[in-house]
Amino acid sequence: MITFFTPGSRSNISRIGFLLLFLSFIFTQCKEGKIKDNPSQSSGLISDSAMVVCARPEASAIGIQIMKKGGNAFDAMIATDLALTVSYPFAGNIGGGGFMVYRTHDGKVGALDYREKAPMAASRNMYLDASGNIIPGKSTLGAMAVGVPGTVAGLFKVYKKFGSLPFKELIQPAIDLAKRGVVLTKKQARRFNYYRKYFDQVNDHKIIFDKEWHAGDTIKFPALAKTFERIRDNGRDEFYRGKTADMIAAFVQKHHGIITREDLARYEAKWRKPIVFNYKNAKIISMSPPSSGGICVAEILNAIEPFPVASYGHNSTKYIQLLTEAERRAFADRSFFLGDPDFEKIPIDTLISPAYANRRMADFSWKKATPSSTVKHGNIIGYESMETTHYSIVDKQGNAIAVTTTLNGAYGCKLYVGKGGFFLNNEMDDFSSKPGVPNQFGLVGAEANSIKPEKRMLSSMTPTIVEKNGQLYMVVGSPGGSTIITSVVQAFLNVYEFGMSMQQAVDMPRFHSQWLPDDIKMEPGGFSLAVQDSLKQLGYAIDTTNAPVIGKVDAILRLPDGKLEGGADHRGDDKAVGY
Ligand code: GLY
Repeated sequence: MITFFTPGSRSNISRIGFLLLFLSFIFTQCKEGKIKDNPSQSSGLISDSAMVVCARPEASAIGIQIMKKGGNAFDAMIATDLALTVSYPFAGNIGGGGFMVYRTHDGKVGALDYREKAPMAASRNMYLDASGNIIPGKSTLGAMAVGVPGTVAGLFKVYKKFGSLPFKELIQPAIDLAKRGVVLTKKQARRFNYYRKYFDQVNDHKIIFDKEWHAGDTIKFPALAKTFERIRDNGRDEFYRGKTADMIAAFVQKHHGIITREDLARYEAKWRKPIVFNYKNAKIISMSPPSSGGICVAEILNAIEPFPVASYGHNSTKYIQLLTEAERRAFADRSFFLGDPDFEKIPIDTLISPAYANRRMADFSWKKATPSSTVKHGNIIGYESMETTHYSIVDKQGNAIAVTTTLNGAYGCKLYVGKGGFFLNNEMDDFSSKPGVPNQFGLVGAEANSIKPEKRMLSSMTPTIVEKNGQLYMVVGSPGGSTIITSVVQAFLNVYEFGMSMQQAVDMPRFHSQWLPDDIKMEPGGFSLAVQDSLKQLGYAIDTTNAPVIGKVDAILRLPDGKLEGGADHRGDDKAVGY
């Protein structure tokens, strides 16, 4: 997670955790003020036919195994997702939710929303005390933070429409992995050890992670394997109406939460119309509300399209300035207009139109920064974190899917359903608990994202597919809370405007700006002092210390000869596997 925000933000736990975990990693790699030249090889893995790029090598390999057996990208999605639940409990989940964008081999596009929703007993002021102040930690830690999980419903929805192999063949590799166990990397061991105190704090029982871990240790997940076996045998209803539903409702209530069996029984994943727009001769297909991702990416790219972006040079003062001003305006709109489309009227067509972006940029000046205090939402008539995870898949027919899924904070709300073998999300923190008070990503929300029973909380997840000349071009996405949006924009532009390979594009240093707080976060060591100084002279506040990692992009680029190049972000243990 990227939580570089002030003491006013609600979750210090995830902020400090992430900071500690990644600071040492980053600081051993680079020295402040010196440009870290492209740290990657010139290109990523190149494959002829099919590829999976995700946060864990085991999960990428399982997705590929399914496609080698004759499964399609959608089959591989289900197998990869379940394998991430085992191998990457930091964010891979069945206790959370996510979004998927697809483009079939014949050009049909669509989007699936399996975002968590507020329980029926949720209410607008549930995270406020009697004086109307936010109760620290209530929306991030423990049972009150949990939204009704959507992942299992999402996977079955995908299976019903697109699955080709028997479901039991898709879930079996995850069952086998859970029984065999996962060998910990150094990063994983450090994370488990860091978060142990929070696991102890919220769980009324000892959980399997409650010991000192070392790289090379193996963790086995027998309870999760049993849950998967029940889902294999009983289908979707096992999680929402069966023994697992009973387990979740009883567990949450025992920990003083409000999710009931009825909440679970009423959960539905929903097909949505994706956000589709053009940037020059590329067609971008991205996630629609209740994610803000697609709309914000559209607003940012529409705003910069009239400018000769490539001529400014990669990560130059002018490029950073232009993107920051576009981001500032897009995030101001996000804060005001966006929420669950089933509850709020959202002026999507206007927000993603080039004419609107031009109007929003009318007061942009190269001479000085536009202070965020003077930027409000646009006038139209009539606000993760590394804890999220993204994966990209292309199969040999050319079907492409981009999936971003999350527990929100690291290991969600830290509650581990011991009998079921999985963590529960803390997605309720993505609602705007109190207008004007930032959430754990520093995002400030308004009425459109207020809490209502059964409403979905606004997301920044941005699974995205790009077409060029009518053909698949790129599959891209990232974890990173609010930095997801700006990471996806930069990974795309690094290839499209600056001619980088997918791996280079993913590994390049990134910056991030989001209206409030009014500054530009930069990965330490990624930007020259000269560029930083010139931006400061123009009035931009630069922060190179509180954002050690911005996004963790996993992407696939279709090369002119039809081969696939994987971009697996060096910031994690991410891996591209293909054939
Ligand atoms: N929980 C991070 C997001 O949905 O944006």
